[in-house]
Amino acid sequence: MISQKTIASWMICFLLLLLLPIAFSEPTRNLKGTSARAPTVQQIRNKEVIVDNGIVRVTFSNPEGLITGIKYNEIGNVLNPYLRARGYWDITWQRENNILPTLDRIEGTNFRIITQSEEQVEISFSRTWNGGSDHIPLNVDKRYIIRTNTSGIYTYGIFERQPEWPEVEMGLIRVAFKLNPDRFHYMVVADNRQRQMPTDDDRDIHSGRAKPLAYKEAVQLTNPHNQMFKNQVDDKYQYSCEVKDNKVHGWISTKSNVGFWLISPSGEYRSGGPVKQELTSHVGPTTLTTFISQHYVGQDMETRYKTGEAWKKVLGPVFIYLNSDSTGNNLQHSLWEDAKRQTEQEVEAWPYGFVASSDFPTRQERGTITGRLFVNDRFLAPAGYAYIGLAPPGEAGSWQTNTKGYQFWTQTNETGYFTISNVRPGTYNLYGWVHGFIGDFKYQNLVNVAAGSEICLDRVVFQPPRNGPTLWEIGVPDRTAREYFVPEPYQNTMNPLYLNHTDKFRQYGLWQRYTELYPNHDLVYTVGVSNYSQDWFYAHVTRNIYGSTYVPTTWQIVFELPYVNWRGSYTLQLALASAARANLQVRFNNEYSRPLFSEGIGRDNAIARHGIHGAYHLYSIDVPGRLLRTGTNTIYLRQSKAVGAFEGLMYDYIRLEEPSTA
Ligand SMILES: *[C@@H]1O[C@H](CO)[C@@H](O)[C@H](O)[C@H]1NC(C)=O
Ligand SMILES: *[C@@H]1O[C@H](CO)[C@@H](O)[C@H](O)[C@H]1NC(C)=O
Ligand SMILES: *[C@@H]1O[C@H](CO)[C@@H](O)[C@H](O)[C@H]1NC(C)=O
Ligand SMILES: *[C@@H]1O[C@H](CO)[C@@H](O)[C@H](O)[C@H]1NC(C)=O
Repeated sequence: MISQKTIASWMICFLLLLLLPIAFSEPTRNLKGTSARAPTVQQIRNKEVIVDNGIVRVTFSNPEGLITGIKYNEIGNVLNPYLRARGYWDITWQRENNILPTLDRIEGTNFRIITQSEEQVEISFSRTWNGGSDHIPLNVDKRYIIRTNTSGIYTYGIFERQPEWPEVEMGLIRVAFKLNPDRFHYMVVADNRQRQMPTDDDRDIHSGRAKPLAYKEAVQLTNPHNQMFKNQVDDKYQYSCEVKDNKVHGWISTKSNVGFWLISPSGEYRSGGPVKQELTSHVGPTTLTTFISQHYVGQDMETRYKTGEAWKKVLGPVFIYLNSDSTGNNLQHSLWEDAKRQTEQEVEAWPYGFVASSDFPTRQERGTITGRLFVNDRFLAPAGYAYIGLAPPGEAGSWQTNTKGYQFWTQTNETGYFTISNVRPGTYNLYGWVHGFIGDFKYQNLVNVAAGSEICLDRVVFQPPRNGPTLWEIGVPDRTAREYFVPEPYQNTMNPLYLNHTDKFRQYGLWQRYTELYPNHDLVYTVGVSNYSQDWFYAHVTRNIYGSTYVPTTWQIVFELPYVNWRGSYTLQLALASAARANLQVRFNNEYSRPLFSEGIGRDNAIARHGIHGAYHLYSIDVPGRLLRTGTNTIYLRQSKAVGAFEGLMYDYIRLEEPSTA
């Protein structure tokens, strides 16, 4: 007997079969016979833990909690089978009296299943400090969450230190994955930053495949396996990314039709605020999420923990996402677009409701703050598209070096309105800065956020530094040196990715062009005649005179004053986008006088690391009218340190202000 119902079922099946080819031509999660099912946890002879949800099968060493294998699709292990360290958390640390930092892979000593249900498994590999001097004084709980019907792994870490523990320096905390080098060759950092990559082996300077360059991270590929990379440069810092843009990056295997992605749905657990730059993916194939580092800021970064200081921070969760497209067509497009779509979904789901630790507050346990930012520089105007955020209490701008607390940043809309949501309970300052204006905003009152609080600040006003009307200005106040002259790269050390690219500054070796452009005399900029996009070199660097000998350089700004207020005080607003072991001296009208301003500044190393900015500094320098002349004046900007190629500065913006008329 065949009932009508059965016929209907057959017809539905038939229709589904017809639809199948369509479904498969889409980038799919490709479950390939494996059906999504509740994740299982299996312990093998106390040596391994395997979690399998039918889509990914993840193997951990037990109790260390290193990820040793990820089986996905047809790939037995997407991670590098030739290395011991494949998927891991690590930290560099240093005792007060130790000179060299130690790398610790944070191997757990205790495995626990935290939750296990139809929906998900959360496991923990933890380590409690044993009081020994061979281990970092820190308790670490590494967590991994594998959910049903989810193509990937969530991981987060709970880091905690007791106040009585010894003083320590912790400079770097990250999660790293080393992928299978036989499969992953195409790397994606952004829509316009993706390429076929050389191999780790191509970087080997001992086998004659590569030549060392100015520092060990950069090599010239002289004899790569694939000749298409010949005479290119490889340097992982060329793929750095600002935290605000660093939400997804990874690798594609065109051989296996698979993508491997690291997704960071939030910036709250990072350090240094939204424009802090961190490494992303690079030759290895390697892919990273950095939570704390000194990159592009240097030793000003707050990485020292004193006796008496307690600390606890939840880093993550981040999502390791795998995708595939069985069609194999245009994977660079389909898998990347799918990874971006998945990222949007993760951002939408933040803060995740499925995290077991009570140290990770749920959405209901967090608060919101809204308001409208104005900027008052001679007249009041809404601050559109400004960055505004909550970070631990401190001086204006202190978020740049903050690592220990959480930060919550957003951008105002066109008319200055902002909403900062999902803020963890705590006490913060509200900080910000506005494109086109110098200085740092800090709201006068502390902001106390409690669970469920909705704080409305209405109108907040940023008063940028200004002492008088503008006489002239150079550049754009945007905390970068982007708008200045960035030269062309050298033919034999270029990265083809950045030819004809908005980020030309990411090319290797551009600093050396200064010596070629100014072999005998330094840069002279004439206000009203020169054009900063052509005549202001992006970095104030040293000059190479021969071999490895470098000399200091002195730049001049020449300007006319039809009239001088002798008794008045002028102001030189000098905003720096970067400084590395620099000593900046400012003189007016006499190159050999005692400097009006002299200061040792910075260790952000952004020149060597191809960042167009590092840490921001603003100096408002008083200039007594008696130092000026009616007619032609000259400002001498001398960078007096010249040990090598990398002492230097990048200017953000320079302005001379008349004495106030008010
Ligand atoms: C599995 O996830 C996919 C994509 O998120 C979704 O379309 C599908 O309905 C889910 N299946 C189940 C059984 O939950
Ligand atoms: C900015 O946000 C405010 C408050 O949410 C809203 O009323 C306004 O329409 C927004 N303006 C624009 C240009 O989007
Ligand atoms: C550079 O890019 C622009 C915009 O995509 C394009 O129009 C131009 O032809 C490119 N130039 C070169 C030399 O590739
Ligand atoms: C300065 O140079 C840039 C780039 O060559 C050009 O686009 C701009 O128009 C110039 N500005 C002036 C004022 O000439």
